[in-house]
Amino acid sequence: MSTSLFMSSSNRTNIPNSLNEHWMPFTDNKTFKKNPRLITDAKGVYLTNHQGKKMIDASSGLFCNPLGHGRKEITEAVSKQLDKLDYCQPFNQGYGGSFELATRIAKKTPEGINRIFYTICGSTAVETAIKIAIAYHRAKGDSKRFRFVGRERGYHGMNIGATTVGGMINNIKTFASVLMPGVQHMRHTHLPEHKFVKGQPDTGVEMAEDLERIAMNFGGENIAACIVEPIAGSTGTLIPPKGYLKRIREICDKHGILLIFDEVITGWGRTGSAFASQEFGVTPDMITMAKATTNGVIPMGVVAVKEEMYDAVLDSSSSNPEGTPELFHGYTYSGIPAAVAAGLAVQDIFDKEDIFNRAKEMSPYLQDGLHSLKDLKEVVSIRGYGMMGGIEMRMKDKPGKAGFQTFKHCYDAGVNFKNTGDSLIIAPQFICEKKHIDEIIDKLRTGISNYSKS
Ligand SMILES: Cc1ncc(COP(=O)(O)O)c(C=O)c1O
Repeated sequence: MSTSLFMSSSNRTNIPNSLNEHWMPFTDNKTFKKNPRLITDAKGVYLTNHQGKKMIDASSGLFCNPLGHGRKEITEAVSKQLDKLDYCQPFNQGYGGSFELATRIAKKTPEGINRIFYTICGSTAVETAIKIAIAYHRAKGDSKRFRFVGRERGYHGMNIGATTVGGMINNIKTFASVLMPGVQHMRHTHLPEHKFVKGQPDTGVEMAEDLERIAMNFGGENIAACIVEPIAGSTGTLIPPKGYLKRIREICDKHGILLIFDEVITGWGRTGSAFASQEFGVTPDMITMAKATTNGVIPMGVVAVKEEMYDAVLDSSSSNPEGTPELFHGYTYSGIPAAVAAGLAVQDIFDKEDIFNRAKEMSPYLQDGLHSLKDLKEVVSIRGYGMMGGIEMRMKDKPGKAGFQTFKHCYDAGVNFKNTGDSLIIAPQFICEKKHIDEIIDKLRTGISNYSKS
């Protein structure tokens, strides 16, 4: 580690004395610690790093902060809440805020999906949705359904269930021995002809038939649920072909399979509607969400569940002694006051600033900007929808090398985002003005061009 990073104790929160002890998540720790990228400040759409360099945040953190960084309304709400009630245990007890937030969330979810279970993050939301699927089928006397269907190139988080239904090979390979049994994957929907398609591709609806095939091979009556991201986010914005999600819904209905939309990324306006479900006109049985629920400032995950499923689980346990939970599941941090306060402040901003429409209006400008990078030499594919996009770099030697090198050149050029493998993940904040989108695109052009020359 460079000694220039050692600074006085007054700077301790920004510049650590040692980088050794923190084992960083999803990070090449060895390389990072030789040449760290530390973020010290965030305001609006900008970040500042430990060298004092200002960068534009082109991925809303990890899709977390669509309302921008440092929102006073959120910080003040959290601070006020912590002063009044910092924690209360969530099992057989509660406080008003979590009920109020559930009502506000249920107003924005598709009709009928109005029962809200709080978790800690996206992974625990997915894990919870898997358990609720099993609990629901059992409540209906259908306990043979144990199988789940996910999709290649899907990302659902890092717990055992979420890792299993996900379809990113590096996440699965190491942990194969402990993954959930009975999980099958459909093929992903990204076809060669989709390389530079703006919005939903016209071709590829037939990829949904993979679900029918799995149902035929394993017995549709044994499948508890199918989980997909309406738009696969972490693997670089893979947009569903026209008619694909509708066909998945039809096949689920035919076999009594529950459909879970993982909207941890697409939820809360990323597509221009509150949920991708509404944007694409397909209603699942459960929706998972996290990230933007609190504008990323306090961890919180949510599973929104069809009312009928909630009723079935409650009804089936009506003969239990008083005080027995209907669902043996929950977390110490399910709906804690600080997260709820952030969530309520976020809902206020969504409404006051008509934020989903703002995202919708800015989307074509972002998509035009992204596609203007098509001429760059090493760019092999650009996909996008709403306020999200993926730029794929030509693979160099091994998967991920080109993506990471491009990320570093872009960082140096003053635009920050995340790469997954060779895909650059772009997801600007909804508060962006056109000048911010221009800045993101200009700096991407500089960074990508510098990478090509390197
Ligand atoms: C679609 C999706 N589901 C689940 C997760 C996991 O969320 P978390 O990292 O909050 O556990 C993510 C994270 O990026 C995600 O994109």
